[in-house]
Formats: sequence, structure tokens, C-alpha cells
Amino acid sequence: MCGIIGYTGKKNCVPFLMEGLKRLEYRGYDSAGVSILQAGQIVTVRSVGKVEELEKAVLQANPQGMTGMGHTRWATHGKPSEENSHPHTDCTGDLVVVHNGIIENYLSLREKLESYGHKFSSETDTEVIAHLIEENLLHVRAADDEERLIKAISKTNSSLSGAFAYYVMWARTPYLLAGTKIQNPMVVGLGKDENYLASDVPAFLAHTNKVLFVEDGEIAVIKSSGAKILNANGSVQKRKAVKIDWDQKTAEKGGYRHFLLKEIYDQPQALEDTLRTARMDFSKVLGLDTAAIRKLRTVHIIACGSAYHAALVGKYYLEQLAGIVANVDLASEYKYRALVPVKDALAIAVSQSGETADTLGAVQKAKEAGFRTLAICNVRGSSLTRLCDGVFYTHCGPEISVASTKTFTSQITALYAMAMFLGQANGNISKAVFEKSYKELLMLPKAMNEAVKLEYEVRHLTRKIYKADRFIFLGRHVNFPIALEGALKLKEVSYKSAEGFAAGEIKHGPISVIDKGTPVFMLMPADGLFDKMVSACQECRARGAFVVAITTKAGVKPLKNFVDKIIIVPKTSDLLQPVLDIVPLQFLAYWIAKRLGCDIDHPRHLAKSVTVE
Ligand code: M6R
Repeated sequence: MCGIIGYTGKKNCVPFLMEGLKRLEYRGYDSAGVSILQAGQIVTVRSVGKVEELEKAVLQANPQGMTGMGHTRWATHGKPSEENSHPHTDCTGDLVVVHNGIIENYLSLREKLESYGHKFSSETDTEVIAHLIEENLLHVRAADDEERLIKAISKTNSSLSGAFAYYVMWARTPYLLAGTKIQNPMVVGLGKDENYLASDVPAFLAHTNKVLFVEDGEIAVIKSSGAKILNANGSVQKRKAVKIDWDQKTAEKGGYRHFLLKEIYDQPQALEDTLRTARMDFSKVLGLDTAAIRKLRTVHIIACGSAYHAALVGKYYLEQLAGIVANVDLASEYKYRALVPVKDALAIAVSQSGETADTLGAVQKAKEAGFRTLAICNVRGSSLTRLCDGVFYTHCGPEISVASTKTFTSQITALYAMAMFLGQANGNISKAVFEKSYKELLMLPKAMNEAVKLEYEVRHLTRKIYKADRFIFLGRHVNFPIALEGALKLKEVSYKSAEGFAAGEIKHGPISVIDKGTPVFMLMPADGLFDKMVSACQECRARGAFVVAITTKAGVKPLKNFVDKIIIVPKTSDLLQPVLDIVPLQFLAYWIAKRLGCDIDHPRHLAKSVTVE
């Protein structure tokens, strides 16, 4: 939820830290701070608000040094204020900590530390880490200060419960930074005469794409001369550097005003890159041979937010293409279900970041119940990819906008590819149907290229409706989850009240919220359910709604007298149509938010990766 970054090298670290914090800002943006080791002393600058506020304060204080770290905060414990901003210090002021995550037992630790005489200056859970390390430094025995620090961090970790990643800088070891993690992301970047720590790769991608992944409980130590990873006992762990195939350009706005808009336009490429691996041998990915695939009877798909909506579309794919009953759950709910242990079952976790705490918890639960687990994930080396038995990567490049777009459409195509594969392997679909489905899948990037041309038309439409109080989205079958996703996109970035429903459900209650002029978006490609959707259009229009139909070309003529506006999306197969149908709704959310002057890439109260439960 927070973004953390660290540097040690031979240059002044301040420009790097500020640049990295801006790249990490999507993880949290209510306050920010940096600590720099300047001439043997720690200088800290913190401010409330976005990184640009911190930048002003840093410009004034002008700290300089070759080791430093920074933090951009999404508040959990304590309101956004300067005192609660990171970095946090121990009593001596010689040791500082930045932290992402939650220390669940911080209250009892704080009480204990206070009884030893430690003085606290914030309401945060983070501050206990600094004081606990200070305390442990007094009691560990070591040959030198570096070893002492590592031992104190290790001892501290054994007292902390929760999920966290934190970095430590100590004036007595000015040439190094140490970082450690439990169930929260942390990567080491390997540069030339300089090395980095960060919550994720885009923070330092402009400087290196060579990374080391750190496992839970390990401690990473970076110096200008190199980086090493130690286990809790201080032994050096062998770790191969991984080259990340993302480039800096994809992590930048590339001429677009906002990441959200850029990432909508990234979709043809993201689909193309994801589909390049769609015909892979899923039996290898799943670690199941054909006999085991034939036995597969139960699939549980778990996810949160937009990924959950993609999973809901996946349910139709698994049932129709693979003949497998699929159960879709919100990860936050799944964790508390009474799961009946099963044999021959697969749990699929869908996640852009691979760091969502709820999803990780749900996977853990599925594992305990005997499920084989598969991740559909966008981030290489993320916690989810290491937890699951198999991984299918979406190749979208970094998604920076808090509101997901390109990863959502790629997740749907990944689920389709997998359902197709399972269906062929278990005999539910013939080779001919498989080949036809595969062909349709490969045509998607081209159709997506057409779909993104809808921006102008949607932008124009928003002029008329952006002031409405409430927006409704309706769809059926595979387009029902698209109605949910359309509503989520709009809520997230424009703060408008928006709801998505299965069109057949409105008469059971939701229709009562429709009023004169309420914009109602109908997801109604010209498919087998088209006529049912026309009835829903009439029902809404009869109550005064302003009805917008999102349909394919064949739907235009029959709709003429029943709706107020028609948006034509390119046609693909009925099952894949949702991948294109969401595009006008992504533009809708963007343009309504833009007209309302919302902070599109930093929607209030949100963060990109929700690494707390
Ligand atoms: O990284 P994940 O896909 O696991 O994240 C799940 C949700 O937090 C995420 O999809 C969220 O709903 C997005 N902000 C939606 O745009």
C-alpha cells in the first residue's frame, strides 16, 4: 500500500529517491518523506500530501548524501500528518526505518518498549520497528556494526507479526542499507557502483532491469559495491539475478496526460504480448498430465476488484469450453469459508500485482484444503507467483494507473486460453472448435485496435451526462461482469455512485433507483440474449432513463427506437465480446473523471496494491 525505495552508491541519492517516489506514488499518496545520510548524520525531510509537496521541502532543505531512502504513504495507523510520515526514527536519531504493511502486534510491542524508556513520537505501527531494532542492537553480540545490525533486524523480525517490508539505515553503517520482508513486496535492483531497494521494479527501471527477488524472512544488504541476501541466521543465500523484460517507456506516460488513458491505449499490445504465450502447454503450467486434467472436476477462482470481475467472465469459459464447474469467490470472503477438502481440484488466483494480501491468504487456504494452485499474474517474481504451483503470466508491462484496464482485458484472455486448453485436453471440445476458438483469440488485438478508436465518441457523450448523480450498467451472461467492471471503473476515478447489475435482475429491485435522466449503459452485443436486453432497455426507458446501448453493428437497426445513444464496438465471438465491450466504459470513466477535475491517476482513498487485509 505504501511505496518504499532505497539507494546506496557513489552519487547524491536525492534525485534518484525523488524520481523513484514519484514512480511509486500510485501505491499511496497522503504523505511522503526521505532520510539521507549526510556527513555521518541522518537528515530527514517529510511532508503531508503528494510527493510534489515533499519535493518543495527537499529543495529547501537541500540534503545531500550517497545513501538514503524514501517513502510514500497510504495511511493505516494514524492520520496523514508530518509526525506520522515515514521515515521513523529510534530514540537516538541515528537509525531510521521506512515500512510498507502492517505490524499487527504493535500495541503490545509499543507498551513493552515504552516500559524500557523508549519515547515515541508518532501514532504509527512502524515506529515500533525502529525502537525494537534500537533495543536489540544493545543485546546482540557481533564482530562489527554491520553484523550487529543484521542480527538486530533478524531478532526484530522474530518479534513482529503481520505482513511487512521495511528498510533500515543506521549512521554507524553509512555505506549500506538493509531491507527485509514478510508477505510484502521488496526487490533489489543491481546497478553499476550503485544498488537499489524498492517496493517494485518500475521505481528503478530507468537505471536497471537486473533484479534479485527477496524471500520472506530474508535480509537484503545493499552497498555501492554489491548486494547480498542473507537468511535469518545471517548466512548468504545464493540468488540468481533476473532480467525484467519491461522497458522504461512502458512505465512512463508516453505523451498521454494520464497513465489511465495511456494504459487503455496499451491494450492492443498487451493482448498481443499475452496471446503470444496463450498456446503454451498448460499441462506443464498446471503440473498436471492429461489423465489428471480429465479428472479435474472443481475449479475455484479467487480474486479481488477488477481481477474478480475477470474471474467471473472466466467462469463462463470454464463451464462452456471445458465443461468444468467453476466457483468464483472474492478472495477476502474465500478465506473465511468452510472449505471442504477436495481431491482433483484446482484453485486459480487472478491478480495483476501478485501482492494482494486477500488473494495470497485465499491461496494459502486453498492449498491447505488440497487444491493445486495456479496464478494468473502480471508481475514476475511477485509473492503470488512464488506461492502457486503454476503461473500463467499476462504480459501487459507495468500497470501504473490505480484503475486497472489492460491487465483486466488480458486476464480475461488468459482465462479463455486456459479454458480452451482444458476443454481440448478433457475432450469437452473438438480439435476443430479448439482451432476456431484459438483463431478468434488471435484476432483480438486487431479488434482492440479498433475499439480504442471509440474515445472521441465517448468523450463527446460524457459532455451530456457527466453531471448525473447516479450511473447504472446492465449486462447478461459474459457481459454481466462487464457491467460490474464498468461501474467499478467509474466509481474509482470519478467518485460517482455507479452500480452494475445482471439485466434480468433489475425488475427484482434495482429498477427503483432509475429516475428521469439516469444514464443506463446496456451491454448488448447482437447475440442470443439481445432481445432480452431490448426488453430491459424498454423497461428503463419507460422510467425516464437515458439509455446508452453498447452493441455490435448488427444491433444498430433493431435498437434505433429503443435507446438514446448507440455505441458500436467491433465484433468478435460471443464469448470474447466482453474484452471489447469494456473499452467504451473505460473511456467513460476517464472522461467523466476528467470533466469533474478528479485526480485520475491518484483517486482518493485508494492504492494500487492492497497489501493489507
Ligand atoms: O493486484 P490485484 O489484481 O490483485 O488487485 C486487485 C484489486 O485491488 C484491483 O483490481 C482493484 O480493484 C483495481 N483498482 C481496479 O481498478
